[in-house]
Amino acid sequence: MKTIIYYLSATGNSLYVARFLQAALQDAELRSVPEALVEGCLDVKADVVGFVFPLHYMGLPLQAEAFLARLSVTGSPYIFAIATCGVPYFGTFFEDVEKILSRKDLRLDAAWYLRLVSNYLPLRDTATDWRIRIRAWLAERKLKSIAQAIKDRRLHSTWQLLQKPCRRLHQEWKERQQRIDENFRCDTGKCTSCGLCERICPTRNILCPDGYPVWQHRCTECLGCLHICPVEAIDYGEKTKGRKRYRHKDVAPKDLLRHFPESDTSERLPS
Ligand SMILES: Cc1cc2nc3c(=O)[nH]c(=O)nc-3n(C[C@H](O)[C@H](O)[C@H](O)COP(=O)(O)O)c2cc1C
Ligand code: SF4
Ligand code: SF4
Repeated sequence: MKTIIYYLSATGNSLYVARFLQAALQDAELRSVPEALVEGCLDVKADVVGFVFPLHYMGLPLQAEAFLARLSVTGSPYIFAIATCGVPYFGTFFEDVEKILSRKDLRLDAAWYLRLVSNYLPLRDTATDWRIRIRAWLAERKLKSIAQAIKDRRLHSTWQLLQKPCRRLHQEWKERQQRIDENFRCDTGKCTSCGLCERICPTRNILCPDGYPVWQHRCTECLGCLHICPVEAIDYGEKTKGRKRYRHKDVAPKDLLRHFPESDTSERLPS
């Protein structure tokens, strides 16, 4: 049974989940969504196809939506989707996945929210360490049963609460997309010009012409740049100042970077 799992991850939650499933399911291959888009690898043929994405504004991340719309699926695989999040069950994530798949005559067979830790720092500070540990423990338990359900190819649906207002909020967010990154600031007094923010950005939205990040108005607000900066030089307006940066404990910063053939900065990565 060949399984292909597509993931999108800024702070490691979705990558952790994709890796967990890769280990639990035999013959599973992981594919990064930003890389699939850049490389134009948008055809898939497998017995099982999975999508592991973060929940963004109660719906699909912008890049995930663009990716799903372009993906070409051969045959009729068993398809599952997982939304990693801070607060599950609200929004239209799975309805949106279903809509895109149905245009291709495909069906979403199984859908799960997986509660981990919210990385949406502009809204609130990162959860405390003990809360992170409890959520990780609960998530692992749920993942074991999800893996078994996928092996058995079970059908699974989930709650999707307050769809109408959530859809409106999601739509308003999408309409702001070109202005999203106007709120980012780099403290040049702190910045060490390590280039990590440039290398994590899944949309190539950051350039560092003078060593400091300059945002190019193609942001999807994944917040990867803000969380990865080792010296916390990046803030999103005033709200994120002093708030704790987050990364899943089992995912290293280098695993979240886009692949570049040259100028590897891994020796400068924080552990
Ligand atoms: C722009 C943005 C919007 C978000 N919106 C929601 C949301 O509506 N509900 C929620 O529970 N979590 C929300 N989150 C938190 C992420 O879904 C959550 O932290 C996710 O697991 C991050 O996955 P990653 O580490 O793989 O990027 C949001 C995060 C971002 C960056
Ligand atoms: S600029 Fe930052 S928040 Fe925007 S897409 Fe790139 S890494 Fe994500
Ligand atoms: S990650 Fe931080 S320190 Fe490194 S270049 Fe970007 S802003 Fe500067």
